[in-house]
Amino acid sequence: MMRNIGILGAMAQEIDEVKALLTEKTIVKIANREFVVGKINNVRCVVAFSKWGKVAATITATLLVQEFGVTDLFFIGTAGALADGLKVGDIVISKRLVQHDLDARPMISRFELPLLNRIYVNSDPELTDLAGKAVSNLLERGVENMVSDAAVKEFNLAPTLHFGDIASGDQFINSDVKRKEILDLLPDVLCVEMEGAAVAQVCLEFGVPFTVIRTISDTADHNARVDFGRFIVEVANAYSRAVISEIMRLL
Ligand code: ADE
Repeated sequence: MMRNIGILGAMAQEIDEVKALLTEKTIVKIANREFVVGKINNVRCVVAFSKWGKVAATITATLLVQEFGVTDLFFIGTAGALADGLKVGDIVISKRLVQHDLDARPMISRFELPLLNRIYVNSDPELTDLAGKAVSNLLERGVENMVSDAAVKEFNLAPTLHFGDIASGDQFINSDVKRKEILDLLPDVLCVEMEGAAVAQVCLEFGVPFTVIRTISDTADHNARVDFGRFIVEVANAYSRAVISEIMRLL
């Protein structure tokens, strides 16, 4: 079967950079969303801004699968670090996704996905490995080939790559208290964001392989708000473009 790669991004500007990589573009609008259909490196793909939060991302991911028939799905965006040792600019690729704000106790256990009998959704091992290879290649070439020297200095970038659990919820986490609450209950989680686990659930139900790639933009504590905006403009957009083009080159 011919591959048809779905690419979702959590920030509009970030995904604009990815859209710029496409040739033979067609734009399709559904449900206040813009889907750009085209090719990167001669591989068919569909790129869209997921919008923010689990519900919005669920709608976008479902449309990608049902309307555009994607065979694989990559989600790219930023996240707040939970694990010690992760720093701004590092990249996390998902092994498992969990919704940290899901709680249907006492019917089922905390974090359990209703009627799905599980807490975690695994990302696809092959796509996860492929994304890992793409990021490793880029990091070997050096971060200064992805972003400006000024940004490398400003954010003290010396990125490393990590694989592990990512938690999603409908909250921007920017306090030490909230950060600790999540870590106490889900100690293996590397970072938090607002869409990955929702997209994972869509992909699980439709049987579409997926993986999530997140750049650490903040430390999910009281500094989170300040760091975030500047980081998106100066770093995340360029990272996304580089990572997606390298993934499409390796496919
Ligand atoms: N995306 C980037 N940083 C985040 C944070 N601190 N909380 C939730 N989503 C994020």
